[in-house]
Amino acid sequence: MSETILLTGANGKTGRAILKKLVGLKLVVKVFIRDKNQWQDLKALGAAGFAVGDMLDVDSIDSAVMGCQKIIHVGPPMHPDEKTITQSFIEAAIKQNIGHFIYYSVMHPLRRDVRHHRLKLDAEEVLVESGIPYTILQPIRYMQHLLPIWNKVVEEGVHAMPFNTEVMFNVVDLEDLAEATAIVAAEPGHYFATYELAGVEPLSQTDMAAIISDVIGTPVTAQAISQQQLADNAREKGFNEDKVEQMMLMNKHYDDCGFLGSPNVLRWILGRQPTLYREFVERLHQA
Ligand SMILES: NC(=O)c1ccc[n+]([C@@H]2O[C@H](COP(=O)([O-])OP(=O)(O)OC[C@H]3O[C@@H](n4cnc5c(N)ncnc54)[C@H](OP(=O)(O)O)[C@@H]3O)[C@@H](O)[C@H]2O)c1
Repeated sequence: MSETILLTGANGKTGRAILKKLVGLKLVVKVFIRDKNQWQDLKALGAAGFAVGDMLDVDSIDSAVMGCQKIIHVGPPMHPDEKTITQSFIEAAIKQNIGHFIYYSVMHPLRRDVRHHRLKLDAEEVLVESGIPYTILQPIRYMQHLLPIWNKVVEEGVHAMPFNTEVMFNVVDLEDLAEATAIVAAEPGHYFATYELAGVEPLSQTDMAAIISDVIGTPVTAQAISQQQLADNAREKGFNEDKVEQMMLMNKHYDDCGFLGSPNVLRWILGRQPTLYREFVERLHQA
């Protein structure tokens, strides 16, 4: 009988991308969602079953894990209870003899001054000490951060991000990360491993603007949004003060240090070159 994988955060951007890749590999996926209305959409993407619950509610976690053999845990971004939530899934996994726990973390959780990185580091520690066969995935910043501003970039020719225009990032394609996650879940041999997952080229916002400009055929300039404006925009979107603070810490850190990493592990898992930024932008332009 096929094993069932519990996928958390399944209705989010990352969760949906991973779900599609798992289904593409013919794996059986039970999605953890917090609203039953989300089920029809995820069923249409190929999910085999669902559990409705809140990640802060241990009982709903326990019953969701029941009947599963593997877990892919994708926590909500910048959540102050990341460690507690992950710990609850780990405890449920121990009770249910889960054979493989894949934790979707972040690259460089050791950046302790960025609070949500530190929380993921704390969660990683609990997992490593649990004794469950685990794989920790540490993705870098997504290329997909371009999506919410894409129309504006094309219409106004301004690529605006909340850090200086010269600091460098090895941004990565979420589609590659989702594929790598599915491969790690499907293949043997990834137990007790921690994988840093980054894109191929270190690029500044200026480099990215130049690539976009080349692809769309009109000038695009990189621009740094101030931290204050970022905070104002986040509050307008309804983010609570804790999340605003976490975002500010993260972007301040990016502004100072960028976010660089090696593509070697991702290349190895995928068995091919990870997507280049130009290829990602071409895909978006053609969509
Ligand atoms: N973006 C990046 O560049 C990047 C890089 C590295 C790592 N990551 C990590 O990737 C992960 C996923 O990020 P994302 O952008 O895909 O997140 P997202 O789109 O906001 O999705 C988060 C999902 O979690 C669900 N959720 C939130 N609180 C919940 C709760 N209390 N109980 C049950 N479900 C809950 C949400 O449910 P609803 O659908 O009901 O809202 C949503 O489906 C995060 O841990 C983030 O740190 C992101």
